Amino acid sequence: MADLFSSYQLKDVTLKNRIAIPPMCQYMAEDGLVNDWHLAHYTSLARGGSGLVIVEATGVAPEGRITPGCLGIWNDAQAEKLREIAAAIKAAGAVPGIQIAHAGRKASANKPWQGDDHIPESDARAWQTIAPSALAFGGDLPRVPKQMSIDDIARVKHDFAAAAQRALAAGFEWLEIHFAHGYLGQSFTSAHSNRRSDIYGGSFENRSRFTIETLEAIRAVWPEHLPLTARFGVIEYDGNDEQTLSESIQLVKAWKQRGLDMLSVSVGFTIPETNIPWGPAFLAPVAQRVRNEAAIPVSSAWGFGAPALADNAIRNQELDLVMIGRAHLENPHWPYFAAKQLKQDNPAWVLPAPYAHWLARYRSPTEA
Ligand SMILES: Cc1cc2nc3c(=O)[nH]c(=O)nc-3n(C[C@H](O)[C@H](O)[C@H](O)COP(=O)(O)O)c2cc1C
Repeated sequence: MADLFSSYQLKDVTLKNRIAIPPMCQYMAEDGLVNDWHLAHYTSLARGGSGLVIVEATGVAPEGRITPGCLGIWNDAQAEKLREIAAAIKAAGAVPGIQIAHAGRKASANKPWQGDDHIPESDARAWQTIAPSALAFGGDLPRVPKQMSIDDIARVKHDFAAAAQRALAAGFEWLEIHFAHGYLGQSFTSAHSNRRSDIYGGSFENRSRFTIETLEAIRAVWPEHLPLTARFGVIEYDGNDEQTLSESIQLVKAWKQRGLDMLSVSVGFTIPETNIPWGPAFLAPVAQRVRNEAAIPVSSAWGFGAPALADNAIRNQELDLVMIGRAHLENPHWPYFAAKQLKQDNPAWVLPAPYAHWLARYRSPTEA
């Protein structure tokens, strides 16, 4: 029976365990470029022992960044710097992944610790946002986006494919498309944010078209032997959950037919007015349903930081991979902590030798 420390193979890529670090924006870039912050951050996380490290939401176009501090991959200079991150993650023994993203109507925002709200239009740092329909998210993100023309749609699909090519050239071996969290892909899918009357809106089939075509464009340039995954909010917790979930599962099946290898199951975050049942591992049963009904491997995040919960999600076949986010910000050596808690043999050896050698020989300095 597989557990948290079992290896995992997807396509030609093998992860040394089932622990993955989900994309987590650092908001520390300028002009979308990697700098010393990112290099130190990702190197340190990768040395902690997880099998997979997915680099934060990286904009496929300048207007697709969430904030001015977000990473980008719309030009070769950005990809060249990202190569250093991919190499550092790999040298630390983890598989380097990256999430490519377009933030749609949620773009042009201040960093979380500077308000997490839309930058006022009068501010020179703000930019025009785009979305399927000219409807604002609301709450702290009131800016009304420009409704995308057919040409805009074609351009963004092309931007995603070009980003995938750059990610490959930069040395990433695992690609995640960000179709979640109320950003562009999610907002095409949801009737809350998509009120178009052309072939990209209206029926479920039409609302699915943008993500399906984008996925096809990416799969055409991303090699067959490397994993292609997507993050998607399969549920909104808006009171219409059974319908959303069953449509989502249909959509995931359509993506799978076109080459999707795994789904990272998340919440839609398409509208501010929801009733999300936050709690440890609350998405595990939802993810398991997607896994069973769409017959596709799944990962998920949100509250798996207690090692026994993460381990059970694998043992119970709810998830194939467990995403451990904030617990890694708290403790970049979380896999070592988990290995001790779960009483693995030689837990220190999930860490590199310069740490493991000492921790294996002597009592932990922080334990009585
Ligand atoms: C600082 C921070 C940045 C995040 N950035 C992203 C992101 O770039 N892309 C994404 O899909 N999710 C992002 N998320 C969500 C995380 O990937 C993850 O789902 C969330 O932290 C819940 O998992 P956890 O309970 O293990 O932290 C972010 C979360 C945090 C805390």
